[in-house]
Amino acid sequence: MIRERFSLTGKTALVTGASRGIGRAIALGFAEHGADLVLSSRKAADLEAVAEEIRALGRSATVVPANVSRAEEIDALATTLDERGLAIDVLVNNAGTNPVMSAIVDLEPRAWAKIMDTNLTGPFLLCRALAPGMAKRGSGSIINVASNGGIQPAPGIGAYCVSKAALIHLTRCLATELGPSGVRVNAIAPGLVETKFAEALFQGPGYQEFMKRNPLRRHAQPEEIAGTALLLASDAGSYATGEVIVLDGGSSL
Ligand SMILES: NC(=O)c1ccc[n+]([C@@H]2O[C@H](COP(=O)([O-])OP(=O)(O)OC[C@H]3O[C@@H](n4cnc5c(N)ncnc54)[C@H](OP(=O)(O)O)[C@@H]3O)[C@@H](O)[C@H]2O)c1
Repeated sequence: MIRERFSLTGKTALVTGASRGIGRAIALGFAEHGADLVLSSRKAADLEAVAEEIRALGRSATVVPANVSRAEEIDALATTLDERGLAIDVLVNNAGTNPVMSAIVDLEPRAWAKIMDTNLTGPFLLCRALAPGMAKRGSGSIINVASNGGIQPAPGIGAYCVSKAALIHLTRCLATELGPSGVRVNAIAPGLVETKFAEALFQGPGYQEFMKRNPLRRHAQPEEIAGTALLLASDAGSYATGEVIVLDGGSSL
């Protein structure tokens, strides 16, 4: 039955950036489909609120705060998972940032480093910590939340676009490395989604112009990203690896 292939019953999923926006929507969507969740971001209190929503759906939710850009915090997260006997079947590298709008050549090196450390090194650290366990067990799904900016340059967020382009290539390289062990690695590349992260883009002067180039003439809601994450996480997506699924309402056509 195809419906059963979308089930995540018996699976444990770790979602970074799970406290709000796209990460929260993915975590709740996975819980609705039977997964138990490990929720991570920097702020425990925000994660606890999402954990309560997941528990209300009858699934377990464990909060493990960590800054994805710090190797020692990811090591500590992995230790916590081991101590609690939590083996991760699905990893969603969703936490991301873009602290400033700037042309690349005007960017302070510190801002460049923050973007790369969070958007690229973070997923690397989490894959490094969790993929060997998946490989040992012979199965797993890693989903990297990239951006359509990782495919087509966007003005004012060039460094962010570079980080997401690299994340897409990390996805492909890891897919080749981990495929023989039964671990799939895919990316989702959203366009504009209504979250705190994208607030500045909604208020920017180019928003109306930008929407004229979008065939659906609207931006997305976070829940519209969660369905594709479910496909990639579950057996319904069992033959997909190294893929980049663009969800931008056709903006990049
Ligand atoms: N919204 C869009 O239009 C859009 C489009 C394309 C791609 N994306 C991507 O989608 C992902 C989610 O973004 P969103 O729009 O849902 O943003 P959001 O609502 O601002 O959520 C970002 C999440 O990431 C966490 N986070 C930020 N920096 C972190 C760090 N260093 N370590 C750990 N957690 C961190 C935040 O929680 P804490 O503050 O508690 O850490 C929060 O949970 C990002 O990778 C973003 O690049 C978004």
